[in-house]
Amino acid sequence: MENLEQLVTQAVADFAQASEPAKLEEAKARYLGKDGSLTGLLKGLGKLPPEERKSAGAAINVAKEKVEAALASRRDELRRVQLEAQLAAEALDVTLPGRGQTRGTLHPVMRTLDRIEQLFRSIGFDVADGPEIETDWHNFTALNTPENHPARSMHDTFYLLDEAGKVQEDVLLRTHTSPVQVRYMLAHVERHKHLEHMPEIRVIAPGRVYRVDSDATHSPMFHQVEGLWVGENVSFADLKGVVADFLRRFFESDDLRVRFRPSFFPFTEPSAEIDVAFMSGPLEGRWLEIAGCGMVHPNVLRFGGIDPEKYTGFAFGMGPDRLTMLRYGIGDLRLFFDGDLRFLSQFH
Ligand code: PHE
Repeated sequence: MENLEQLVTQAVADFAQASEPAKLEEAKARYLGKDGSLTGLLKGLGKLPPEERKSAGAAINVAKEKVEAALASRRDELRRVQLEAQLAAEALDVTLPGRGQTRGTLHPVMRTLDRIEQLFRSIGFDVADGPEIETDWHNFTALNTPENHPARSMHDTFYLLDEAGKVQEDVLLRTHTSPVQVRYMLAHVERHKHLEHMPEIRVIAPGRVYRVDSDATHSPMFHQVEGLWVGENVSFADLKGVVADFLRRFFESDDLRVRFRPSFFPFTEPSAEIDVAFMSGPLEGRWLEIAGCGMVHPNVLRFGGIDPEKYTGFAFGMGPDRLTMLRYGIGDLRLFFDGDLRFLSQFH
């Protein structure tokens, strides 16, 4: 039975060598599997003379038990090693200093847009938006700016290319939020066509606009807030009242002067630029342009599906980037779009 002892020693050594469960199971098969050596010995018992069978069988069984016990303990060991490795890998050092949570802040221009929305909602305005990729028709034609109209060159327009790289003449990045006037009028008329009296239109449309322009006070992408009020007997006096009241509330100052300076836009008649001047502070007494405005041109009302004989309206287009610069005393527009956290995180 020297043989059996060797076999047990060899099995224990093989099991110890197996560095992972799959290898251990392979080693087990060599001894205890269907064709394993111990299994073979047991099968061979029948060929022994009957008087040897009993003692040989007992000896083989003892060896088998030893091998099984060695296997079980090696299995436990491998499981423990694996668990330890896993625990080490997932270890959490609770003594490390915390990383802290940095909280984002709203972009200063977004704060301004929120504020503008809040103030206009408080006097019954709806808030709408429109696509930044706009048709030539909405951006110009329906705003009384026909093809070849010199006013088109006031806006240096970004056009879009088609798949072949050719300029698409009827698709562009909107140069102002005014196309939302037309979109809103058309949708409003459609929504209320079953009513005898169309409710007034009172809406602002904040959003991004694009022009080929870039310096300290111009960015190729900037923001505008369009305003539109259409109803029976809406007058320039209403426009002045709404805008002046808005500006006093926006800047939280009654110490503010508002001036309407005659100007030209194809989609309003008469038209004006709106200037403000603060009566105190670093900008005291300086007139600053913050919006264009006017009475909606009859042609624009018609393009919007509204009868200019029955309805009048005013519109304005404000620059919230400019309003933000004035409110926070910021000198360079480009700071808004550089994404520099040292600048942006100052606005809480
Ligand atoms: N759309 C004009 C601009 O971008 C501003 C404006 C809007 C003027 C509405 C009048 C009425 O300059």
